[in-house]
Amino acid sequence: MGRTSVAGVARVGRQSQRSAPGPLPRVADEAIVLVGGQGTRLRPLTANIPKPMLPCAGVPLLSHQLLRLRQAGVRHVVLATSYRPEVFTTYFGDGARLGLRISYVTEVDPLGTGGGIRNAAGWLDPDPEAPVFVLNGDVLSGHDLTGQLAAHAAAGAEVTLHLVRVPDPRAFGCVPTTGSGRVTAFLEKCPDPVSDQINAGCYIFRRGTIEQIPAQRVVSVERDTFPGLLASGATVLGHVDSSYWLDLGTPAAFVQGSADLVRGVLPSVAVPEPGPALLLPGARVAPDAVVDGGTTVGADVTIGAGATVSGSVLLDGCRIGACARVRDSVVGLKARIGERTALTGAVVGDSARVGADNELIVGARVWTDAVIADGAIRFSADC
Ligand code: GTP
Repeated sequence: MGRTSVAGVARVGRQSQRSAPGPLPRVADEAIVLVGGQGTRLRPLTANIPKPMLPCAGVPLLSHQLLRLRQAGVRHVVLATSYRPEVFTTYFGDGARLGLRISYVTEVDPLGTGGGIRNAAGWLDPDPEAPVFVLNGDVLSGHDLTGQLAAHAAAGAEVTLHLVRVPDPRAFGCVPTTGSGRVTAFLEKCPDPVSDQINAGCYIFRRGTIEQIPAQRVVSVERDTFPGLLASGATVLGHVDSSYWLDLGTPAAFVQGSADLVRGVLPSVAVPEPGPALLLPGARVAPDAVVDGGTTVGADVTIGAGATVSGSVLLDGCRIGACARVRDSVVGLKARIGERTALTGAVVGDSARVGADNELIVGARVWTDAVIADGAIRFSADC
Protein backbone atom coordinates (compact mmCIF):
# COMPACT_ATOMS: atom_id res chain seq x y z
CA MET A 1 0.00 0.00 0.00
CA GLY A 2 2.77 2.41 1.06
CA ARG A 3 4.85 1.53 -1.97
CA THR A 4 1.91 2.04 -4.31
CA SER A 5 1.25 5.55 -3.05
CA VAL A 6 4.96 6.49 -3.21
CA ALA A 7 5.14 5.22 -6.80
CA GLY A 8 1.98 7.18 -7.59
CA VAL A 9 3.47 10.42 -6.30
CA ALA A 10 6.70 9.86 -8.26
CA ARG A 11 4.73 9.23 -11.44
CA VAL A 12 2.74 12.44 -11.04
CA GLY A 13 5.99 14.36 -10.50
CA ARG A 14 7.58 13.06 -13.69
CA GLN A 15 4.44 13.77 -15.73
CA SER A 16 4.23 17.33 -14.52
CA GLN A 17 7.88 17.92 -15.48
CA ARG A 18 7.11 16.84 -19.04
CA SER A 19 3.87 18.82 -19.41
CA ALA A 20 3.34 22.40 -20.64
CA PRO A 21 5.37 25.11 -18.89
CA GLY A 22 2.48 27.31 -17.64
CA PRO A 23 0.27 26.48 -14.63
CA LEU A 24 -2.73 24.29 -15.39
CA PRO A 25 -6.11 26.08 -15.11
CA ARG A 26 -7.60 25.56 -11.66
CA VAL A 27 -10.53 23.19 -11.32
CA ALA A 28 -13.37 24.58 -9.18
CA ASP A 29 -14.36 21.47 -7.25
CA GLU A 30 -16.00 23.29 -4.33
CA ALA A 31 -19.14 25.42 -4.12
CA ILE A 32 -21.19 27.35 -1.60
CA VAL A 33 -24.94 27.50 -2.18
CA LEU A 34 -26.90 30.16 -0.30
CA VAL A 35 -30.14 28.64 0.96
CA GLY A 36 -30.79 30.54 4.19
CA GLY A 37 -33.49 32.98 3.07
CA GLN A 38 -37.08 32.97 4.39
CA GLY A 39 -38.63 33.06 0.92
CA THR A 40 -41.26 35.60 2.00
CA ARG A 41 -42.46 36.28 -1.55
CA LEU A 42 -43.48 32.65 -1.88
CA ARG A 43 -45.55 32.49 1.29
CA PRO A 44 -47.54 30.53 2.27
CA LEU A 45 -45.68 27.81 0.32
CA THR A 46 -42.55 28.52 2.35
CA ALA A 47 -44.35 28.35 5.70
CA ASN A 48 -42.89 24.89 6.28
CA ILE A 49 -40.49 24.33 3.39
CA PRO A 50 -37.56 26.64 2.53
CA LYS A 51 -37.79 27.96 -1.04
CA PRO A 52 -34.85 25.90 -2.42
CA MET A 53 -36.59 22.74 -1.14
CA LEU A 54 -39.96 23.39 -2.83
CA PRO A 55 -40.74 20.59 -5.28
CA CYS A 56 -39.96 21.73 -8.80
CA ALA A 57 -40.59 19.14 -11.53
CA GLY A 58 -40.78 16.41 -8.91
CA VAL A 59 -37.62 17.14 -6.89
CA PRO A 60 -36.48 20.05 -4.71
CA LEU A 61 -35.56 23.10 -6.75
CA LEU A 62 -32.06 22.88 -5.28
CA SER A 63 -31.51 19.39 -6.75
CA HIS A 64 -31.37 20.80 -10.28
CA GLN A 65 -28.60 23.23 -9.27
CA LEU A 66 -26.63 20.62 -7.36
CA LEU A 67 -26.73 18.27 -10.34
CA ARG A 68 -25.44 21.03 -12.62
CA LEU A 69 -22.59 21.75 -10.24
CA ARG A 70 -21.77 18.03 -10.22
CA GLN A 71 -21.72 18.01 -14.03
CA ALA A 72 -19.33 20.99 -14.00
CA GLY A 73 -16.86 19.08 -11.83
CA VAL A 74 -17.82 20.20 -8.33
CA ARG A 75 -17.44 17.47 -5.69
CA HIS A 76 -17.97 19.32 -2.39
CA VAL A 77 -20.88 21.69 -1.70
CA VAL A 78 -21.38 23.73 1.46
CA LEU A 79 -25.02 24.63 1.99
CA ALA A 80 -25.28 27.94 3.86
CA THR A 81 -28.55 27.41 5.74
CA SER A 82 -30.50 29.42 8.28
CA TYR A 83 -34.28 28.99 7.85
CA ARG A 84 -35.45 25.39 8.53
CA PRO A 85 -32.00 23.77 8.10
CA GLU A 86 -33.30 20.33 9.05
CA VAL A 87 -35.33 20.12 5.82
CA PHE A 88 -32.07 20.17 3.81
CA THR A 89 -30.18 17.67 5.93
CA THR A 90 -33.07 15.22 6.04
CA TYR A 91 -33.42 15.17 2.26
CA PHE A 92 -29.81 15.41 1.02
CA GLY A 93 -27.89 13.78 3.89
CA ASP A 94 -24.19 13.48 3.06
CA GLY A 95 -24.90 14.10 -0.65
CA ALA A 96 -23.67 10.69 -1.83
CA ARG A 97 -26.94 10.05 -3.72
CA LEU A 98 -26.04 12.98 -6.01
CA GLY A 99 -22.36 12.03 -6.23
CA LEU A 100 -21.42 14.96 -3.98
CA ARG A 101 -20.10 15.58 -0.50
CA ILE A 102 -22.45 18.06 1.17
CA SER A 103 -21.55 20.03 4.31
CA TYR A 104 -24.07 22.14 6.19
CA VAL A 105 -23.45 25.43 7.97
CA THR A 106 -26.28 27.12 9.86
CA GLU A 107 -26.56 30.80 10.73
CA VAL A 108 -28.60 31.11 13.92
CA ASP A 109 -29.36 34.70 12.95
CA PRO A 110 -29.26 35.16 9.18
CA LEU A 111 -26.02 36.89 8.10
CA GLY A 112 -27.21 38.03 4.67
CA THR A 113 -25.74 36.82 1.39
CA GLY A 114 -22.17 38.09 2.00
CA GLY A 115 -22.14 37.07 5.66
CA GLY A 116 -23.45 33.64 4.67
CA ILE A 117 -20.64 33.15 2.13
CA ARG A 118 -18.02 34.20 4.70
CA ASN A 119 -19.50 31.91 7.32
CA ALA A 120 -19.50 28.90 4.99
CA ALA A 121 -15.93 29.42 3.77
CA GLY A 122 -14.37 27.75 6.81
CA TRP A 123 -15.52 24.40 5.41
CA LEU A 124 -13.60 24.89 2.16
CA ASP A 125 -10.05 24.05 1.13
CA PRO A 126 -8.03 27.00 2.56
CA ASP A 127 -5.84 27.47 -0.57
CA PRO A 128 -6.33 31.22 -1.27
CA GLU A 129 -5.98 30.77 -5.04
CA ALA A 130 -8.67 28.08 -5.37
CA PRO A 131 -11.74 29.20 -7.36
CA VAL A 132 -15.06 28.63 -5.58
CA PHE A 133 -18.54 28.64 -7.13
CA VAL A 134 -21.12 30.57 -5.10
CA LEU A 135 -24.78 30.24 -6.10
CA ASN A 136 -28.10 31.60 -4.93
CA GLY A 137 -30.22 28.57 -4.15
CA ASP A 138 -33.39 29.84 -5.82
CA VAL A 139 -32.25 30.20 -9.43
CA LEU A 140 -32.69 27.91 -12.43
CA SER A 141 -30.01 28.41 -15.03
CA GLY A 142 -28.66 26.66 -18.07
CA HIS A 143 -25.57 28.82 -18.37
CA ASP A 144 -22.12 27.43 -19.03
CA LEU A 145 -20.44 27.15 -15.63
CA THR A 146 -17.15 25.98 -17.13
CA GLY A 147 -17.19 28.93 -19.57
CA GLN A 148 -17.62 31.28 -16.60
CA LEU A 149 -14.69 29.56 -14.87
CA ALA A 150 -12.50 29.87 -17.96
CA ALA A 151 -13.26 33.62 -18.19
CA HIS A 152 -12.46 34.01 -14.47
CA ALA A 153 -9.11 32.23 -14.86
CA ALA A 154 -8.15 34.12 -18.03
CA ALA A 155 -8.78 37.50 -16.38
CA GLY A 156 -7.15 36.55 -13.07
CA ALA A 157 -10.27 38.02 -11.44
CA GLU A 158 -11.01 38.26 -7.73
CA VAL A 159 -14.63 37.48 -8.52
CA THR A 160 -16.57 36.76 -11.71
CA LEU A 161 -20.31 37.28 -11.83
CA HIS A 162 -22.72 35.61 -14.22
CA LEU A 163 -24.72 38.45 -15.81
CA VAL A 164 -27.90 38.15 -17.85
CA ARG A 165 -29.43 40.70 -20.17
CA VAL A 166 -33.10 41.44 -19.57
CA PRO A 167 -35.61 43.25 -21.79
CA ASP A 168 -36.72 45.62 -19.01
CA PRO A 169 -33.91 46.24 -16.50
CA ARG A 170 -35.83 48.91 -14.56
CA ALA A 171 -36.97 46.40 -11.95
CA PHE A 172 -33.38 45.36 -11.13
CA GLY A 173 -30.07 46.87 -10.13
CA CYS A 174 -27.82 46.86 -13.21
CA VAL A 175 -24.16 45.87 -13.69
CA PRO A 176 -22.42 47.76 -16.53
CA THR A 177 -19.11 46.38 -17.87
CA THR A 178 -16.29 47.55 -20.16
CA GLY A 179 -15.67 45.95 -23.57
CA SER A 180 -13.32 43.46 -21.91
CA GLY A 181 -15.94 42.50 -19.34
CA ARG A 182 -14.65 44.36 -16.28
CA VAL A 183 -17.49 45.53 -14.05
CA THR A 184 -17.53 49.31 -13.71
CA ALA A 185 -20.36 49.79 -11.19
CA PHE A 186 -23.17 48.16 -9.25
CA LEU A 187 -26.12 50.45 -9.68
CA GLU A 188 -29.39 50.38 -7.73
CA LYS A 189 -32.62 50.02 -9.69
CA CYS A 190 -33.75 53.26 -11.34
CA PRO A 191 -36.21 54.40 -14.06
CA ASP A 192 -33.44 54.90 -16.63
CA PRO A 193 -30.76 52.18 -16.20
CA VAL A 194 -27.50 52.56 -18.14
CA SER A 195 -27.24 48.82 -18.87
CA ASP A 196 -29.58 45.87 -19.43
CA GLN A 197 -27.16 43.51 -17.63
CA ILE A 198 -28.22 42.22 -14.21
CA ASN A 199 -26.61 40.03 -11.57
CA ALA A 200 -27.77 36.43 -12.11
CA GLY A 201 -26.74 35.17 -8.66
CA CYS A 202 -23.88 32.83 -9.64
CA TYR A 203 -20.34 33.89 -8.80
CA ILE A 204 -16.85 32.48 -8.90
CA PHE A 205 -14.75 33.82 -6.02
CA ARG A 206 -11.04 33.51 -5.54
CA ARG A 207 -11.03 31.66 -2.21
CA GLY A 208 -8.77 34.27 -0.56
CA THR A 209 -11.18 37.07 -1.55
CA ILE A 210 -13.93 35.52 0.56
CA GLU A 211 -11.68 36.06 3.62
CA GLN A 212 -11.96 39.83 3.04
CA ILE A 213 -15.68 39.74 3.91
CA PRO A 214 -16.11 40.65 7.61
CA ALA A 215 -16.90 37.59 9.74
CA GLN A 216 -19.98 37.13 11.94
CA ARG A 217 -21.69 40.27 10.68
CA VAL A 218 -24.66 40.85 8.42
CA VAL A 219 -23.23 41.64 4.99
CA SER A 220 -24.92 41.90 1.60
CA VAL A 221 -22.72 40.60 -1.20
CA GLU A 222 -24.59 42.77 -3.71
CA ARG A 223 -24.64 46.03 -1.73
CA ASP A 224 -21.45 45.75 0.37
CA THR A 225 -18.94 43.18 -0.92
CA PHE A 226 -19.01 43.78 -4.67
CA PRO A 227 -19.01 47.62 -4.52
CA GLY A 228 -16.22 47.41 -1.89
CA LEU A 229 -14.09 45.22 -4.16
CA LEU A 230 -14.58 47.66 -7.05
CA ALA A 231 -13.62 50.62 -4.84
CA SER A 232 -10.40 48.81 -3.82
CA GLY A 233 -9.41 48.37 -7.49
CA ALA A 234 -9.94 44.59 -7.55
CA THR A 235 -10.68 42.88 -10.86
CA VAL A 236 -14.41 42.16 -10.82
CA LEU A 237 -15.47 40.45 -14.03
CA GLY A 238 -18.91 40.17 -15.59
CA HIS A 239 -19.56 37.06 -17.67
CA VAL A 240 -22.61 37.57 -19.88
CA ASP A 241 -24.37 34.37 -20.90
CA SER A 242 -27.80 34.41 -22.51
CA SER A 243 -28.83 30.83 -21.79
CA TYR A 244 -32.01 30.01 -19.90
CA TRP A 245 -32.15 31.86 -16.56
CA LEU A 246 -34.96 32.37 -14.07
CA ASP A 247 -35.04 33.57 -10.45
CA LEU A 248 -37.84 31.55 -8.84
CA GLY A 249 -38.57 34.12 -6.14
CA THR A 250 -42.25 34.75 -6.95
CA PRO A 251 -45.21 32.40 -7.46
CA ALA A 252 -45.43 33.24 -11.18
CA ALA A 253 -41.73 32.54 -11.70
CA PHE A 254 -41.95 29.37 -9.63
CA VAL A 255 -44.68 27.79 -11.76
CA GLN A 256 -42.95 28.95 -14.92
CA GLY A 257 -39.63 27.39 -13.88
CA SER A 258 -41.24 24.11 -12.91
CA ALA A 259 -43.18 23.92 -16.19
CA ASP A 260 -40.04 24.72 -18.19
CA LEU A 261 -38.22 21.81 -16.55
CA VAL A 262 -41.11 19.40 -17.16
CA ARG A 263 -41.37 20.40 -20.84
CA GLY A 264 -37.60 20.29 -21.36
CA VAL A 265 -37.28 24.01 -22.12
CA LEU A 266 -34.51 23.83 -19.52
CA PRO A 267 -33.01 20.32 -19.62
CA SER A 268 -32.17 18.76 -16.25
CA VAL A 269 -30.83 15.28 -15.53
CA ALA A 270 -33.52 15.12 -12.82
CA VAL A 271 -36.18 15.18 -15.59
CA PRO A 272 -35.09 12.38 -17.90
CA GLU A 273 -38.27 12.31 -20.05
CA PRO A 274 -39.61 15.83 -20.70
CA GLY A 275 -43.22 16.10 -21.84
CA PRO A 276 -46.49 17.98 -21.39
CA ALA A 277 -46.91 16.76 -17.81
CA LEU A 278 -45.08 14.87 -15.09
CA LEU A 279 -47.08 12.40 -13.03
CA LEU A 280 -45.50 11.15 -9.82
CA PRO A 281 -46.28 7.72 -8.34
CA GLY A 282 -49.83 7.30 -7.08
CA ALA A 283 -51.25 10.22 -9.09
CA ARG A 284 -54.78 9.47 -10.33
CA VAL A 285 -56.10 11.48 -13.26
CA ALA A 286 -59.68 10.95 -14.51
CA PRO A 287 -59.71 9.68 -18.11
CA ASP A 288 -61.40 12.81 -19.46
CA ALA A 289 -59.33 15.32 -17.46
CA VAL A 290 -56.72 17.33 -19.40
CA VAL A 291 -53.31 17.89 -17.81
CA ASP A 292 -50.69 19.79 -19.82
CA GLY A 293 -48.46 22.86 -20.12
CA GLY A 294 -45.69 21.31 -18.02
CA THR A 295 -47.87 20.55 -15.00
CA THR A 296 -46.41 18.42 -12.23
CA VAL A 297 -48.96 16.11 -10.59
CA GLY A 298 -47.52 15.14 -7.21
CA ALA A 299 -47.65 11.75 -5.51
CA ASP A 300 -51.14 10.57 -4.55
CA VAL A 301 -52.85 13.57 -6.17
CA THR A 302 -56.38 13.02 -7.50
CA ILE A 303 -57.76 14.98 -10.49
CA GLY A 304 -61.51 14.63 -11.02
CA ALA A 305 -63.57 14.08 -14.16
CA GLY A 306 -63.59 16.91 -16.70
CA ALA A 307 -60.96 18.98 -14.86
CA THR A 308 -58.28 20.88 -16.77
CA VAL A 309 -54.87 21.61 -15.26
CA SER A 310 -52.24 23.56 -17.17
CA GLY A 311 -48.77 24.93 -16.32
CA SER A 312 -49.27 24.22 -12.61
CA VAL A 313 -47.64 22.51 -9.66
CA LEU A 314 -49.90 20.15 -7.69
CA LEU A 315 -48.11 19.12 -4.52
CA ASP A 316 -48.39 15.65 -3.01
CA GLY A 317 -51.76 14.47 -1.79
CA CYS A 318 -53.90 17.37 -3.06
CA ARG A 319 -57.28 16.87 -4.74
CA ILE A 320 -58.70 18.71 -7.73
CA GLY A 321 -62.49 18.42 -8.00
CA ALA A 322 -64.50 17.51 -11.09
CA CYS A 323 -64.64 20.20 -13.80
CA ALA A 324 -62.21 22.46 -11.89
CA ARG A 325 -59.87 24.62 -14.00
CA VAL A 326 -56.37 25.19 -12.68
CA ARG A 327 -53.93 27.31 -14.63
CA ASP A 328 -50.43 28.64 -13.73
CA SER A 329 -51.13 27.92 -10.06
CA VAL A 330 -49.64 26.05 -7.13
CA VAL A 331 -51.84 23.79 -5.00
CA GLY A 332 -50.23 22.86 -1.68
CA LEU A 333 -49.77 19.55 0.06
CA LYS A 334 -53.12 17.82 0.80
CA ALA A 335 -55.10 20.93 -0.24
CA ARG A 336 -58.60 20.47 -1.73
CA ILE A 337 -60.02 22.34 -4.73
CA GLY A 338 -63.79 22.05 -5.12
CA GLU A 339 -65.81 21.14 -8.19
CA ARG A 340 -65.97 23.76 -10.96
CA THR A 341 -63.61 26.10 -9.09
CA ALA A 342 -61.24 28.10 -11.32
CA LEU A 343 -57.70 29.04 -10.27
CA THR A 344 -55.53 31.27 -12.46
CA GLY A 345 -52.14 32.37 -11.15
CA ALA A 346 -53.19 31.47 -7.59
CA VAL A 347 -51.34 29.89 -4.68
CA VAL A 348 -53.23 27.58 -2.35
CA GLY A 349 -51.38 26.71 0.85
CA ASP A 350 -50.90 23.27 2.36
CA SER A 351 -54.09 21.59 3.66
CA ALA A 352 -56.28 24.56 2.61
CA ARG A 353 -59.80 23.86 1.32
CA VAL A 354 -61.28 25.90 -1.49
CA GLY A 355 -64.95 25.00 -1.88
CA ALA A 356 -66.86 24.44 -5.11
CA ASP A 357 -67.67 27.23 -7.61
CA ASN A 358 -65.00 29.71 -6.51
CA GLU A 359 -62.86 31.81 -8.81
CA LEU A 360 -59.37 32.92 -7.72
CA ILE A 361 -57.22 34.94 -10.05
CA VAL A 362 -53.64 36.19 -10.34
CA GLY A 363 -52.09 37.10 -7.03
CA ALA A 364 -54.56 35.24 -4.82
CA ARG A 365 -52.93 33.42 -1.90
CA VAL A 366 -54.98 31.07 0.23
CA TRP A 367 -53.19 30.54 3.51
CA THR A 368 -52.20 27.19 4.99
CA ASP A 369 -55.25 25.37 6.49
CA ALA A 370 -57.66 28.16 5.41
CA VAL A 371 -61.19 27.19 4.39
CA ILE A 372 -63.17 28.98 1.66
CA ALA A 373 -66.85 28.13 1.47
CA ASP A 374 -68.61 27.03 -1.72
CA GLY A 375 -69.28 29.93 -4.10
CA ALA A 376 -67.63 32.49 -1.79
CA ILE A 377 -65.22 34.33 -4.12
CA ARG A 378 -65.66 35.35 -7.76
CA PHE A 379 -64.08 37.86 -10.08
CA SER A 380 -66.77 37.63 -12.72
CA ALA A 381 -70.55 37.81 -12.76
CA ASP A 382 -71.17 34.62 -14.74
CA CYS A 383 -72.14 32.35 -11.85
P1 GTP B 1 -37.58 36.66 -0.24
O1 GTP B 1 -37.80 36.75 1.25
O2 GTP B 1 -38.83 36.26 -0.96
O3 GTP B 1 -36.93 37.88 -0.83
O4 GTP B 1 -36.59 35.42 -0.54
P2 GTP B 1 -35.15 35.09 0.11
O5 GTP B 1 -35.25 35.16 1.58
O6 GTP B 1 -34.75 33.75 -0.45
O7 GTP B 1 -34.20 36.26 -0.40
P3 GTP B 1 -33.45 36.39 -1.78
O8 GTP B 1 -34.29 35.85 -2.88
O9 GTP B 1 -32.99 37.78 -1.93
O10 GTP B 1 -32.17 35.47 -1.55
C1 GTP B 1 -31.32 35.06 -2.59
C2 GTP B 1 -30.64 33.77 -2.14
O11 GTP B 1 -29.84 34.01 -0.98
C3 GTP B 1 -31.63 32.68 -1.77
O12 GTP B 1 -31.15 31.45 -2.24
C4 GTP B 1 -31.67 32.73 -0.25
O13 GTP B 1 -31.94 31.46 0.33
C5 GTP B 1 -30.27 33.19 0.10
N1 GTP B 1 -30.21 34.02 1.30
C6 GTP B 1 -30.84 35.20 1.52
N2 GTP B 1 -30.53 35.69 2.72
C7 GTP B 1 -29.66 34.82 3.29
C8 GTP B 1 -28.98 34.78 4.55
O14 GTP B 1 -29.11 35.66 5.42
N3 GTP B 1 -28.16 33.71 4.78
C9 GTP B 1 -28.01 32.71 3.86
N4 GTP B 1 -27.20 31.67 4.16
N5 GTP B 1 -28.64 32.70 2.67
C10 GTP B 1 -29.46 33.76 2.39
